[in-house]
Amino acid sequence: MNKLTLQTVGKAITHDSAEMHVSGSAHYIDDIAEPAGTLHVAPGLSDIAKGILKSVNLEAVRSAPGVVAVLSAKDIPGKNDCSPGFGGDPIFADKEIKFHGQVIFAVVATSRDQARRATRLARIEIEGETPNVQVEDGIQSGETVLDDYTFIRGDAPGLIEQANSAISGTITVGGQEHFYLETQISFAVPGENRTMKVYCSTQHPTEVQHLVARTLGQPDASIVCECRRMGGGFGGKESQAAQWACIAALASRVTGLPAKMRLDRDDDMVVTGKRHDFLVEYSASHDDKGVVEAIDLELNGRCGHSADVSLGINDRAMFHSDNSYFYPNLRIHSRRIKTDTVSNTAFRGFGGPQGMVFAERMMDQLAIKLGKDPLAIRKRNFYSKGRDVTPYGQKVRDNVIRQLVAELEKSSDYKNRRRQIAKFNRKSRFLKKGISLNPIKFGIAFTLMHLNQAGSLVHVYTDGSVQVNHGGTEMGQGLNLKVAQVVAEEFGIDVSQVQITATSTEKVPNTTPTAASSGSDLNGMASKKAAEKIKKRMVDLAARLFQADRKAIRFINGKVELGDREISFAELANQCFIERVQLSATGYYATPKLTWERETVSGKAFLYFAYGASCSEVTIDTLTGEMKVDRVDILHDVGSSINPAIDIGQIEGGFVQGMGWLTTEELVYDSDGRLSTHAPSTYKIPTCSDVPADFRTALFASKGNKANTIYRSKAVGEPPLMLALSVFSAIFHALASINPGKVPDLDTPATPEAILRAVDGMNATGK
Ligand code: MTE
Ligand code: HPA
Ligand code: CA
Repeated sequence: MNKLTLQTVGKAITHDSAEMHVSGSAHYIDDIAEPAGTLHVAPGLSDIAKGILKSVNLEAVRSAPGVVAVLSAKDIPGKNDCSPGFGGDPIFADKEIKFHGQVIFAVVATSRDQARRATRLARIEIEGETPNVQVEDGIQSGETVLDDYTFIRGDAPGLIEQANSAISGTITVGGQEHFYLETQISFAVPGENRTMKVYCSTQHPTEVQHLVARTLGQPDASIVCECRRMGGGFGGKESQAAQWACIAALASRVTGLPAKMRLDRDDDMVVTGKRHDFLVEYSASHDDKGVVEAIDLELNGRCGHSADVSLGINDRAMFHSDNSYFYPNLRIHSRRIKTDTVSNTAFRGFGGPQGMVFAERMMDQLAIKLGKDPLAIRKRNFYSKGRDVTPYGQKVRDNVIRQLVAELEKSSDYKNRRRQIAKFNRKSRFLKKGISLNPIKFGIAFTLMHLNQAGSLVHVYTDGSVQVNHGGTEMGQGLNLKVAQVVAEEFGIDVSQVQITATSTEKVPNTTPTAASSGSDLNGMASKKAAEKIKKRMVDLAARLFQADRKAIRFINGKVELGDREISFAELANQCFIERVQLSATGYYATPKLTWERETVSGKAFLYFAYGASCSEVTIDTLTGEMKVDRVDILHDVGSSINPAIDIGQIEGGFVQGMGWLTTEELVYDSDGRLSTHAPSTYKIPTCSDVPADFRTALFASKGNKANTIYRSKAVGEPPLMLALSVFSAIFHALASINPGKVPDLDTPATPEAILRAVDGMNATGK
């Protein structure tokens, strides 16, 4: 694609809502003016993690000030389930309690405060049982939410058993709370004849529409779900925004009035799922250069009480346990562990990051064993010609990792800094430094095939302004702007002429979630197709009206060039109306060439791979366990960027979110299954001061995506989160310097406490 010929695509244009975000004028659900009579809903939660619901006495709740209605399972006219597919997610607990914080009932009152106060007056009797809380408890009980799944190539266990050189280990990988700034919220407004409009902060309006319809026992067509934007989603609003929409809708149905449900921050943290934590056990054989011969891997993902979207997440952990490395022989076995805790859900990377922690730990461990630079070990294991088939049978055909890593190695001055750090560590008794350069590779496509589709609806008005409705949702990632740029490019008009409206199931139906980083790939393409249809009609008319040669007609700078003359885009749009030419069209796109078959572990799972690499330098204080990220260099491949400003924002934001996951964010559950870290006071997300002081982000000079994506761009939403693995590896190497040759015992997150424990381990005698 020749960038020079493009007017709008490829430009670093500021996020369309940036000013509104910072001035507070952007509309979120809670900013929608409330119609008279609007009621507010608060959830009544279980204080016990597992047990049998013996009795629920809501008399005092019902008579509390401001209370209009109290809802529980028996009030649901349709189905009491808000699961995205597999079932097992009751909207209200019925007979059985499955986790601490499960919703048992909801209070509908004239104010939110009254509703919240009234929930405290319930008298609930539960016959409690001891819950399985940690992943180890779940493994011991043998209960799973879904069947195991395995990838096998060769006889990996046999080869490892007989190998001269092998390593093994265990690493636990922590979960993560989404901490979207806008907590879960839905607002249901009743219409005539049982219709209802549900405003919902969701990545998946269609699923919310369907689940609300199912709850109310009504057809899908009677419900509209709309989302203008989310104050962050990060996967947490992919399947788990629906429950609050269903409850708000039920409140509205029962009372006949508009009803809004917004979760309090602490409640949101307790009652919604998080990133899956994993217990990973592995062994691997290798040659004397550190080239891996075989791996044997057990991935135990803690799913919580139900399946939710855990199938795809645990699959993706398997898909990405190779990161950028070739494993000639392998056994990758995944167990989807059931615990009596909240159902874990999608989170940026969708299991991929957890799988990649294994790959990076293996490389770091091999480097220590062989006394080599870990980057050298990584490079030796990279996918390369003849060693290019992934554990799931797909060939890696677009590999740029070797070149990308070589460029970053040079630009970050890795070798020299590594030498200086070794010198520093020899002299410095208490402060130790580490540096690490890690690659990432991330597969782009939903592995559940039918989700790889999108629709769009484009209108051109007679003044030349354009409205676009696509099936994707805006959560801050800049999707709307990218789609607007694509449509503006097609019509040759300024992006300010393109208005993107709220995502609504009545404009584009049967959509899939905005997830898997494929929002702009899918909706950009669908919108381009819609715009192309209208443009073709406009060209046909122009050719006829002005006797212009079709080939000479060009849409550029708000004008339509017709060979020897030109008219404005608006004039031609108006002429279309006068001549009765339709100025509205739908577009539809289904990702081509995907042939993945889960049963037979064969076919093409991903359309292409996104690549990147990062180099992080850290300092740890071996007396306190404190850690500082001194410098980060990133080189990331976004193909031909649709908008470099947005992409760099995604890379930096994703990196910092990943750093939080790997270093400070720790979810602590007590033995009764209660989340102890349910507020920012105890759960530490990164703040501005945690952003690396020296932070250098660059886009890989790509010739464009080999796959025929929208303007040859590459998805950018999730992959950069995994760039933070270099911070974790750098901490590992700072620790390793304490006692060369010994492997630090460090799990994620590497909190100060975890670092201090690892320091103690390194100082203890013995290897
Ligand atoms: N960026 C912001 N600001 N807020 C978000 O919630 N979600 C991430 C990523 N970037 C998110 C974000 C996740 S989990 C995904 S899958 C992608 O955005 C989704 O959008 P895209 O497919 O349009 O990139
Ligand atoms: N990320 C990656 N893959 C996915 C997702 C996601 O959020 N949802 C479904 N498949
Ligand atoms: Ca959450």
